[in-house]
Amino acid sequence: MDKAELFTDGEAYERLMGRWSRLVGEMFLDWLDVPNGLRWLDVGCGNGAFTEELIARCAPAAVTAIDPSDEQLAYARMRLGAKSAFRVGDAQKLPFADGSFDVAIMALVISFVPDPNKAAAEMARVVRPGGWAATYMWDITGGGTPTDPIYVSLESMGMTSVRPANPVVSRREAMEDLWEKAGLESIDTRVIRIPVVYSDFDEFWDSNTVLIGPQGKLIAGMSASAREQLRAELRDRLPFIRKRCKGPSTRSSTLTGPNVRYWPIADMRQHRTCLLLTQS
Ligand SMILES: C[S@@+](CC[C@H](N)C(=O)[O-])C[C@H]1O[C@@H](n2cnc3c(N)ncnc32)[C@H](O)[C@@H]1O
Repeated sequence: MDKAELFTDGEAYERLMGRWSRLVGEMFLDWLDVPNGLRWLDVGCGNGAFTEELIARCAPAAVTAIDPSDEQLAYARMRLGAKSAFRVGDAQKLPFADGSFDVAIMALVISFVPDPNKAAAEMARVVRPGGWAATYMWDITGGGTPTDPIYVSLESMGMTSVRPANPVVSRREAMEDLWEKAGLESIDTRVIRIPVVYSDFDEFWDSNTVLIGPQGKLIAGMSASAREQLRAELRDRLPFIRKRCKGPSTRSSTLTGPNVRYWPIADMRQHRTCLLLTQS
């Protein structure tokens, strides 16, 4: 597996995605509304952004978290210490006995897994009868991921798509189908919207071009002129809000500067996230 594909740097991941992941995670866990004191499995825990949220909100009896990336797990261990047992693992072949957990959860992972059906079946297997298997993912085909402007701009420049391997599985209907095939009952889904806001263009650029994930790797390998072209594309594309504001007062009769400028409000689009709760 390509390491850059797997988001190997926990700190960079935090800037790119962790903060949005936690924001969605809070809403997702409120909706899930499972009792305290359960045994949780967090599949594809990455740097522990969501794991931290679930520990804070759900007072679990125990949390086990897996991810294929050693580097991400190192960051997660630093973040959470002994509050969770972290180990290397693959969603398609969970290293646990049948019925070992009350809840199995997969946050922002399903579209990266080569065989999503296998991953769903594995989650269903390791959850006890009457337990919960749940997931959420950006609506990638519907433009819901915070990295969508990057995807669209790169594609408009004729560059290879860097979207996750299985974008279609992020659709609400596809998720329902996935869990039905895994033999689960009481399938429920909802859409969550969060505001994704950057203080200015540079913050958007800096956090989306960190050397992590497929787009970070691609951008790092671009020539200086191609990077400049991408910046210009993104500046045009992002919905920055122009706001009129008063300049500093002056006694001079000539204007000292423009009275219209970019105000630090950036991408105010609402992002869509498909969610699924299932009960076996
Ligand atoms: C976007 S990150 C999500 C991390 C974390 N769950 C969160 O919400 O912030 C996607 C994660 O999926 C992991 N991943 C990719 N393929 C996987 C697989 N086959 N099995 C388990 N995890 C996988 C990556 O290593 C990465 O940490």
